Amino acid sequence: MKSTILTGDRPTGKLHLGHYVGSLAARVKFQHDHRQFVMLADTQALTDNAENPEKVRENILEVALDYLAVGIDPNVTTIFIQSLVQAIPELTMYFLNLVTWNRLKHNPTVKLEIQQKGFGEEVPAGFMVYPVNQAADITIFKANLVPVGEDQLPVIEQAVELVRKFNRTYKTEILVEPKAYIPPIARLPGVDGKAKMSKSLGNAIYLSDSVDEVSKKVKSMYTDPGHLRVEDPGKVEGNPVFTYLDAFAHDKAKVAELKEHYQRGGLGDSVVKKYLLENLLAFLEPIRKRREELAKDPKHVMEILHRGTEVARQVADHTLKEVRGAMGINYFKS
Ligand code: TRP
Repeated sequence: MKSTILTGDRPTGKLHLGHYVGSLAARVKFQHDHRQFVMLADTQALTDNAENPEKVRENILEVALDYLAVGIDPNVTTIFIQSLVQAIPELTMYFLNLVTWNRLKHNPTVKLEIQQKGFGEEVPAGFMVYPVNQAADITIFKANLVPVGEDQLPVIEQAVELVRKFNRTYKTEILVEPKAYIPPIARLPGVDGKAKMSKSLGNAIYLSDSVDEVSKKVKSMYTDPGHLRVEDPGKVEGNPVFTYLDAFAHDKAKVAELKEHYQRGGLGDSVVKKYLLENLLAFLEPIRKRREELAKDPKHVMEILHRGTEVARQVADHTLKEVRGAMGINYFKS
């Protein structure tokens, strides 16, 4: 069965290996067999960047370049800009009446982000309700599959609740319940060993990093702190070097052999890192080249987004009509 996929990213910075493993790889894989929408979530990005619209604006192009460079194909995937699909905020407003303030306050993803961003009580109202906006993103395209990182699960759960509530309240079946797709390696640790690779933690390897930058980051990577001398046995679990190898090295037998040797003792970190670096550079080089090529013609990239946005608008407007019909507020029946 063909699924409809919707997913996206906040354009607040270039994308990194964590994005690739968490969601970009799935998009490239799924795009030929499913109907896929990929969204530059600028409206959502503004919920905590109201003072920095230029940052969001600049990163629209950067993220679009990352998408195209990893192989998201605009001929089969509709790539679009969230804020230009105005049916989304309208559906958001209707959804907001179907969720309680209390429920919003207890969304674990939002709670964690409030803490990380240090908002305290001064959290922007727009930020508090972004999961509702995200539910509208997904449901306006009747997406049933959403490839996302693990941290987004509570947001998808809230979207499911909203769909159920909407369909029940307005006695309809027009909205579709989405399901999260979580990839085999759902989360990539940072080069510093922290649980998550993230721009704000400064522990990311970007898809656009130069050979020098990647080398530097790999050389400084956190490994097993107990692995002091080469002959000491080392730990593989929780050792990001091996997590990255699992994600990016094709020769699984070689990785298994390295793990075994490392655990037994006698294998130095620098040897494993050298092998990782080779694999990462092999993976990143074609992406970086394609990105550089595409970056020479930003107008062309913006044109791709423009076309995608037109398609997205039509689909979304169609659903919005059905939504208004189900609610009985289609006053002029147009
Ligand atoms: N919240 C997602 C993130 O921070 C971005 C996003 C916005 C999204 N709307 C979406 C993801 C809809 C999936 C589906 O990365």
